[in-house]
Amino acid sequence: MMTGELVKEFRNRFQKVPEHIFFCPGRVNLIGEHIDYNGGQVMPCAISRGTFLAVSKNLDKKFRFHCLNFSEVAELHLQESYSRTGKQWFNYPLGIINQLLADGHNLSGLDMLFYGNLPVGAGLSSSASIEVLTAFAFNELFRLNISGKQMALLSKKVENEFIGVNCGIMDQFAVAMGQKNKAILLNCDSLEYEYIPFNTGNHVLAVINTNKPRTLVDSKYNERFAECGAALKALKKELVINSLCELSIAEYELAKHLINDPVLEKRALHVVSENARVKDAAIALQTGDPGVFGKLMYASHQSLKELYEVTGKELDTIVDFCKTFQGCIGARMTGAGFGGCAIAMVQQNMFDDFSEKLFQHYQHTIGYAPDIFAVTAEDGVAELKA
Ligand code: GLA
Repeated sequence: MMTGELVKEFRNRFQKVPEHIFFCPGRVNLIGEHIDYNGGQVMPCAISRGTFLAVSKNLDKKFRFHCLNFSEVAELHLQESYSRTGKQWFNYPLGIINQLLADGHNLSGLDMLFYGNLPVGAGLSSSASIEVLTAFAFNELFRLNISGKQMALLSKKVENEFIGVNCGIMDQFAVAMGQKNKAILLNCDSLEYEYIPFNTGNHVLAVINTNKPRTLVDSKYNERFAECGAALKALKKELVINSLCELSIAEYELAKHLINDPVLEKRALHVVSENARVKDAAIALQTGDPGVFGKLMYASHQSLKELYEVTGKELDTIVDFCKTFQGCIGARMTGAGFGGCAIAMVQQNMFDDFSEKLFQHYQHTIGYAPDIFAVTAEDGVAELKA
């Protein structure tokens, strides 16, 4: 970007220069999928694409929402609370404002212009990005004294209650707390975390967007959420546990008869085995062994395909291609699944060849083109120099 254009457009729309420019990244999850709402460990990183916000205070006690990606604008008077209006993009910042007011913070008017370069609804957390971005901007402008962790929790609450999506904490935490060249190993139960050097040797991290229209994601996501709850409930008949991820694979094998439902057993086996893979993946990165890390990515995808059943033809086509491409050491879907994006670790000097061949293969098999680009692990939300 792009900040030059954002400033110019801000001046056009508000007849003044923005006082601040903030940026919040999106994320990819490297491994640990469908684990955050099961109390285990995940390993996401913030990425180089995300959402920008140019902003200035105003004296007329109004919140003005503009965005370069969408034509709808909104102008709302400062009031005690707000509710969601349809599926408009500004529900995300509005939900954050509503929650800050509910928490008793004193706010006043702002003129806001957003711009995002993440594909929307593609599983790279464009919604977490705009939520945490808004929380961060308000925290800076009104000196609210909210920590990064609290911003993540507040944004998750908005996503769950204001927007109505049952997500876990991973996305908001990753975009708030990311660090350059690091993956975040996050315990979703205790919220303890550590940074792991993202040592990929001479490999780049590729993102492949399936471009599949994602209509069923929310309902299927909620279905998996409920299935895990049902499996946990059955195990609790004899075990004293609060989440599926408290069990090792061996402990689960001993207790699985309590579930007595083949579908729920598959879901639970994915969860406990994926949680174990995250631990192994952290060791592989810490010891600088990208080869092992790549194999764990493939194993994760396999489990999401066969046990959790959230991949689909588009994501499987990408990962199957990756397995045949010599310079690719690992690949898997990332995020909720049912379309969205896959990630792959590809030898740097073969990335162009990889992109070209995968593009052709995918287009030929699926009937439309994917988007393929490389990303790096980046810092979380921050103020940019205007
Ligand atoms: C979505 C949700 C996350 C997480 C992933 C699956 O991205 O927002 O909380 O559950 O799916 O790992």
